Amino acid sequence: MRERRLLATLVVVAVLGVAPAQGPGAAAPAPSEAEAPAAGAPAAVPEEVMAQGQELFEANCAACHAIDGTGAVGPALADPERVRVEADVIRQVLRGSLYMPAFAGKLDDEQIASVITYVRNSFGNGFGPTTPEAVAEHR
Ligand code: HEC
Repeated sequence: MRERRLLATLVVVAVLGVAPAQGPGAAAPAPSEAEAPAAGAPAAVPEEVMAQGQELFEANCAACHAIDGTGAVGPALADPERVRVEADVIRQVLRGSLYMPAFAGKLDDEQIASVITYVRNSFGNGFGPTTPEAVAEHR
């Protein structure tokens, strides 16, 4: 008898727990997510650039800045203030600094542009794309 009651309780809990997820509209996106970007929002970033940038970031940067940009030996890049000024980020990646290697001799303009685009549009940052031309200006 006790076991039966326990079973009945479990069934009730399971049904209550599952029911809301099956309710109408459960999978509908929140209305705000469907809205178009506001005027003045940064230009859209091509998916393939982000994919290349992510690959390069994970191979060249994540050891020091962490895979999620929260920082380790290097400072957190999941912080808009640190990556806001595009020219500063380009110079930092090209030339490096005391504890960061220079990438000017290791990556070409397109690769540097995509890794910077990735960093400036991930981890809560959203500054739009960096072009290879912009990188070339700082060589
Ligand atoms: C060996 C560790 C290391 C690697 C690898 C590395 N960084 Fe850094 N990075 C640092 C450190 C440390 C700093 C802080 C400045 C300094 O002390 O040199 C920094 C600073 C930065 C900054 C400036 C942040 C600020 O506050 O101004 C950016 C942007 C940056 N790194 C991006 C990158 C990117 C992109 C890559 C990969 C292409 C990379 N880093 C690879 C260690 C590293």
